[in-house]
Amino acid sequence: MRNATLSFILLVGCVFCFAIASRGVSAPGGGFKPVSSVHSLMNGQGMMFKQIRTAIQNKNTPERGEVIEHLSEVLAELSNVNMYQKDAADYQGWAKTLRDTALELAEEGEVKTPDEDRLKKLVGEIKSACGACHDKYQ
Ligand code: HEC
Repeated sequence: MRNATLSFILLVGCVFCFAIASRGVSAPGGGFKPVSSVHSLMNGQGMMFKQIRTAIQNKNTPERGEVIEHLSEVLAELSNVNMYQKDAADYQGWAKTLRDTALELAEEGEVKTPDEDRLKKLVGEIKSACGACHDKYQ
């Protein structure tokens, strides 16, 4: 009887410790789990980024500002999700840089007359974030 009680206490203790330990290594925010593979996520990021650049290059794109705004926000969200794909600090750092820069691009798309140099500069910064992470992890 005493042994059974002791085993029970140990078991509960283990489950409790495991719960704490797994919270510690989980991605920021805790509890959230991406449902897509990194591979699919990247294909999505690739498509978004291509369309954003096409819209920036082609000033006659209908609703150009909105296209830049919405697609950049989606790119930011994909990168936000990407932060949950790996625990490594550098991986999350590059994903965060991409997310934040894409949000800046979305804001620039929102303004009536976007600053074309700033659009190009932000696209360059996004490209660098893609490249930095790919150099190590792709
Ligand atoms: C924080 C890390 C990280 C960032 C930032 C990142 N990627 Fe990736 N990317 C990866 C990893 C990891 C792979 C390899 C995944 C795989 O193929 O399983 C990859 C692969 C890819 C692939 C190849 C997918 C295929 O079909 O083989 C494309 C396309 C891609 N990324 C696009 C982008 C674009 C565009 C950006 C920037 C807008 C970007 N990625 C930013 C981590 C990143």
